[in-house]
Amino acid sequence: MATPVIETEGLTKIFGRLRNPKLAVDHIHFRVEPGQVYGFLGPNGAGKSTTIRMMLNLMHASDGKALIFGEDPRQKPEILFRVGSLVEGATFYPYLRGWDNLKVVGNSRGGFDATRAKQLLQFVGLVGSERVRVKAYSTGMKQRLGIAAALLNNPDLVILDEPTNGMDPAGIREMRQFIRDLAYKYGKTVFLTSHLLSEVQQTSDRVAIINKGKIVVEGLIEELLNQEEQLEAEVGSIEKAKTALQERWQVAASTVPNEHNKLRIKASRNDTPSIVRRLVEQNVDVFSIAPVRQSLEDYFLEVIGDDFVQPNSSPLSIGGTPHA
Ligand SMILES: Nc1ncnc2c1ncn2[C@@H]1O[C@H](COP(=O)(O)OP(=O)(O)OP(=O)(O)O)[C@@H](O)[C@H]1O
Ligand SMILES: [Mg+2]
Repeated sequence: MATPVIETEGLTKIFGRLRNPKLAVDHIHFRVEPGQVYGFLGPNGAGKSTTIRMMLNLMHASDGKALIFGEDPRQKPEILFRVGSLVEGATFYPYLRGWDNLKVVGNSRGGFDATRAKQLLQFVGLVGSERVRVKAYSTGMKQRLGIAAALLNNPDLVILDEPTNGMDPAGIREMRQFIRDLAYKYGKTVFLTSHLLSEVQQTSDRVAIINKGKIVVEGLIEELLNQEEQLEAEVGSIEKAKTALQERWQVAASTVPNEHNKLRIKASRNDTPSIVRRLVEQNVDVFSIAPVRQSLEDYFLEVIGDDFVQPNSSPLSIGGTPHA
């Protein structure tokens, strides 16, 4: 098997060891294979950024290690030349133009390649804005420049911490496309964090769900989502339907807001006739019943359970509003 691009072994971070120690990352193990888009998903404060900081040697691990291309960056820091990263929002010199900021970044990493910088500006959609000072950039523009900067040294591994932070819906869609292009057109390995389930579901091949510093689930998205069959039924009365069905099937009201008359039933398509018969016998009106693919959101709710703080604003973000 090829050397994993990232492999962590018992990676741990404890903040404030003496007074009030806080276990932010708790002995995590995961591996990322070449060419994968790997999503690191978890609510605010789960330990995502801390994990990335340790991987990039920006912070010391309290225990365990993170190997990048099989090397420990603490012993072989030059391995990080093969890594491009965007960590917790992009920071640039505000009084320098976008172009000059890229120059600074390029020069700090062994040389600025103007041709490549131009291609990257095209790739991130910033052509025309490179002559503008960064202080006049919007959040989304800074984020795009951050992506261009991360890719300047043509890294094999791209690490993106909350890449769509502060971007508008159109920008988010483009970002998803960038991420997929990076992996599938350009053969990069991408590691991204997000608390946006839809983002991870739509971009990643593999996902780890982290909560309170622990990885609670890890696997291929396809496999995680296809673990069990479910049916969704729209009925006249949720309560009556539950009573009618729960003897034989596991049932729950839909977690999707504004779908109060929908029921999720853990059953296969072949059970549909008996379910309908049972509901009709019990005088429950049935409007529709169909198999549904479990969304990553449902899955997330199941594994995170009570730790999930459902925001009112969007059913797709977890753990509160995205931070600016
Ligand atoms: N420098 C620090 N000193 C003390 N505690 C910290 C420090 N950095 C992070 N923490 C704590 O560690 C935990 C994990 O933080 P981290 O930033 O890794 O979370 P995250 O998953 O990236 O969250 P978010 O989605 O909000 O970015 C949090 O409880 C946080 O308060
Ligand atoms: Mg973070």
